[in-house]
Formats: sequence, C-alpha cells, structure tokens
Amino acid sequence: MAGVIGILGGTGQLGSGLALRLTQAGYKVIIGSRSKDNAVQAVEKLKSAHPGLNFDLSGSDNKSAAAEADMVILTVHYEHLTGILEQLKAETSGKIVISTINPLTFAGGKAGLRPVAADSVGELVQEKLPEAKVTAAFHTVSAALLSNLDKPLDEDILVAGDDKAARSEVANLASAIPGLKGVEAGPLRIAKYLEEMIVLIISLNRVHKAQTGFRVTGINEA
Ligand SMILES: NC(=O)c1ccc[n+]([C@@H]2O[C@H](COP(=O)([O-])OP(=O)(O)OC[C@H]3O[C@@H](n4cnc5c(N)ncnc54)[C@H](OP(=O)(O)O)[C@@H]3O)[C@@H](O)[C@H]2O)c1
Repeated sequence: MAGVIGILGGTGQLGSGLALRLTQAGYKVIIGSRSKDNAVQAVEKLKSAHPGLNFDLSGSDNKSAAAEADMVILTVHYEHLTGILEQLKAETSGKIVISTINPLTFAGGKAGLRPVAADSVGELVQEKLPEAKVTAAFHTVSAALLSNLDKPLDEDILVAGDDKAARSEVANLASAIPGLKGVEAGPLRIAKYLEEMIVLIISLNRVHKAQTGFRVTGINEA
C-alpha cells in the first residue's frame, strides 16, 4: 500500500471525495491547496461532516503536499494545470502522479472537450514532469458519489500509464475503495480515450437521470 497520498486541488469536489474514500480505505491523505488555510478548512469540513469516522487526513499547500506524499493525485481543472505543474518537478520526481483531469468544456451549453496542448492531459503531465511516473485514472467516477458514504459505489476505474508497476499500483489503489475496481487499460496514450469518456457519462446521466459509471466485462480473473 502506498504510504501517503497527496491530493493537489484536493479542496474541490473530486479531491474531497477521494480524500474521504481513501482515508476510509486506510490511506494517509494530505489535501493540497493553493492556500494552506483552505486545505485545513477542507479537512475540518470533512471531519465535521463525518463525526463518527477516523481520518488520517491533513491539509497543506500543494507543493508541500506533493513533497510529503509518496503518490500524488491531480484534481484541478485543465486550465489551471500548467501553473501547478511548474512548481512540482522536484517534488514529484520518481513518484506516481495520477491525472484525473477531463479537459471538459460546456461551450454553447453542450458538454465537449477543449483542445489540449498534447495528445491527452495525461501525456501533457508526463511531458511537464518527466521524472514522474504518470498515470491517468478516476476520470469517470462521480465526485458526488464518492462524497456520499450512504451511496455504495459500483464501477470500474480505468487506469492508463506507461510504467506497468505504477499502473498496477494505481489500479490497486482504486480497488482498495469498496465498490470500485481498478482495471489497467494500457499505456499513457490511452489517457486520451479515458478523458473523452466524460462526455458520454454526462449524456448517460442526463438521459437516465442518474449518476452512471463503467464496468468492463470479459476479463479473466487469475
Ligand atoms: N467532479 C467530478 O465528478 C469529477 C470526476 C472525474 C474527474 N474530475 C476532474 O477533477 C478535476 C477537478 O474537478 P472538481 O469538480 O473537483 O473541481 P473543483 O471542485 O472546482 O476543484 C478544483 C480545485 O482546483 C483548485 N483551483 C482552482 N483554481 C485554481 C488555479 N487557478 N490554480 C490552481 N488550482 C486551482 C481549487 O483548490 P484551491 O482553491 O484550494 O487551490 C479547487 O478546489 C477536473 O479536472 C475534473 O475534470 C472531476
């Protein structure tokens, strides 16, 4: 099990949902933010919303959270990514970095994808953090579902990455959350397709008035 997980932009919806579920799965989590005060407030908010639970959870600025963590999860929006990555080269060197980022836009009221300065956000992160082991994961899970412990999760988390050991570790991280199963999907170039799935998810959610997710079938379990 990875020791400490730093979630950068972890004060937001996905970051807080992952922090809740990962701490309940036994991980030590640091919520990162542009402001340490915001991060500490987010920790307090999670703790006070769940008074009966034990949390190994703290808050820090993004750079310190990345430095202290063994594994880093990026939960910021695409348009805020470059600014964050510039500060993190040294802090993420040799570590697994997970991009959850969907380059989503609602231009004209329709969900679509904004242009990315590489073939995918995952590959852009790898370009900017060449010493990190970048994977792409958690693109299709709903932050609202993660944040609601009364709702059982029931979906797969597809994981792309070029470093096979890192990819497997991230799949195991996802599988540690009850109701989720990490499924390795291939090299980092596959991130593009994981990032596109959000448009389909949003359409499915609208049609079925539900929070939908994906399950992969047909995999032979060893
Ligand atoms: N929401 C979902 O269900 C979901 C599901 C799958 C993937 N994702 C992906 O997760 C990412 C975050 O989504 P979200 O819904 O959690 O967003 P969010 O609630 O808006 O949180 C994003 C966080 O980014 C930080 N931030 C805001 N402006 C910034 C800036 N200029 N520079 C650096 N950081 C900034 C904020 O933290 P501080 O102000 O504390 O720094 C904020 O809490 C997105 O890329 C999205 O595609 C979301």
